[in-house]
Amino acid sequence: MQASSPGSQAISTLARHDRILILDFGSQVTQLIARRVRESGTYCEIWPFNAASDERIKAYNPKGIILSGGPASVTEFESPRAPQSVFEMNVPVFGICYGQQTMVEQLGGKVESGHSREFGRAYVDIQEKSPITEGLWNTGAHEQVWMSHGDRVTQLPEGFRVVGTSEGAPFAFIANDERKFFGVQFHPEVVHTPHGAALLKNFTRDICGCHGDWTMAAFKDEAIAKIRKQVGSAKVICGLSGGVDSSVTAVLLHEAIGDQLTCIYVDTGLMRTGESDQVVELFREHYNIPLIHEDASELFLGALTGVTDPEIKRKAIGALFIEVFEEVAGRVSGDSKSVEFLAQGTLYPDVIESVSFTGGPSVTIKSHHNVGGLPDRMNLKLIEPLRELFKDEVRALGIELGLHPDFVKRHPFPGPGLAIRIPGAITADKLKILRHADQIYLEEIRNAGLYDAIWQAFAVLLPVQSVGVMGDARSYDSVCALRAVTSTDGMTADTYPFSHEFLGRVATRIINEVRGIGRVVYDITSKPPGTIEWE
Ligand code: XMP
Repeated sequence: MQASSPGSQAISTLARHDRILILDFGSQVTQLIARRVRESGTYCEIWPFNAASDERIKAYNPKGIILSGGPASVTEFESPRAPQSVFEMNVPVFGICYGQQTMVEQLGGKVESGHSREFGRAYVDIQEKSPITEGLWNTGAHEQVWMSHGDRVTQLPEGFRVVGTSEGAPFAFIANDERKFFGVQFHPEVVHTPHGAALLKNFTRDICGCHGDWTMAAFKDEAIAKIRKQVGSAKVICGLSGGVDSSVTAVLLHEAIGDQLTCIYVDTGLMRTGESDQVVELFREHYNIPLIHEDASELFLGALTGVTDPEIKRKAIGALFIEVFEEVAGRVSGDSKSVEFLAQGTLYPDVIESVSFTGGPSVTIKSHHNVGGLPDRMNLKLIEPLRELFKDEVRALGIELGLHPDFVKRHPFPGPGLAIRIPGAITADKLKILRHADQIYLEEIRNAGLYDAIWQAFAVLLPVQSVGVMGDARSYDSVCALRAVTSTDGMTADTYPFSHEFLGRVATRIINEVRGIGRVVYDITSKPPGTIEWE
């Protein structure tokens, strides 16, 4: 992940909105806290606990602060702490799991390690009412929550009382009503705590007094005004990939600056059936956005000839993409050099600075296809109007901008396209076979009404041939693997549990209709240990 400068951008663009600050202690689910807070209509940002200086927090001016969970133990030497100023700013604080424990420790209470571990589903018994449970949980309620802890609070700081208990945590839910400090041992941000989102909403709206003024309609108007101010009369280019993020970026920019925007669609020839035509038709015909459709399929196929190693393949595609894009952008600019900006659909998850407990950069699993280096090479300034948004907010913004719901709900598609779904060398024939199989598979998924329940579904053409019998004759054709996963962010994934009947129907259609495929298998590997794409 690329480092951001927390808060700096938001302060200038979103100063009129109520804001919550989430301090991250490295939990796997910190992003979900932000999702729930934003769903409550409140803008928020995630900062690493150690990147939050007193001045920076003060300048951000949060109406409330949430302390996330994390993998450390507060009982360990030099384990992370929240800046002490968090508790002295006179704003409400909500500590979750590790966040609760460090709050307790920092305010004079005690935490002990290892006595009772609770992982997964648990129940909290509400012992007393609290303003944060108003309208949600009454005294005596027995509420399902999700726990993941080895340490627990054993002594409360002054001014705190117990709101709820669980079997393993006598201080599972605590409150200091006067200072508006709350702490929970469980995770309200995950769906396995059914009323967790409502609890976080009570915190942001009732306790912190946020007004719920973070809506996509408001965001759109502000983003348009900001783009106009930033761009003035200059020209902007935007690379379209056919995906949701770049499409929403382009439509937003077009609404802001009209024909000052030119979109560039580099057609790698690695797209699915009809995809390139759809992009051209949508932007050029429907939106009337100046669009250059650069057919570079021959170039890409040439560059990939005989390349079998996945990393070399990815790098070759990335490098060629930049080369072609640069060349086309040069043409748009011409001699006047009037293009000043490059627009990109970077999302908030890409700019969140993550907390590293390993101390070093993580291992590269795959070189992602991105155009991050372009602005410097081309001496362009960058516009990233979606930088503050999560994926589902981008979808909501797309709808707000008039994009069709079917379009904004499309599954993600990787930059290197079908090339990473053909292990081994790529040929035009193989691309044709894969396109056809993929088309049938997705058609059947749509017909069965399953498309929206799946994060991503696609076919993979394996470099394996297998013997079969077709019409009394021996066949020796390729094997096609089908993949379908559920996920919330692509970081982890589960396979989609299709019925055997559905899989059988797809396999029969593919073998009957696609010349060159003789066997179909279903990939049941989750991520981890697998990845979503095959290469
Ligand atoms: P993996 O295969 O790493 O994929 O589990 C996670 C998600 O990322 C997509 N993906 C890419 N997206 N450029 C992209 O824009 C890439 O190079 C790339 N590689 C993988 C993948 O489709 C999945 O949604």
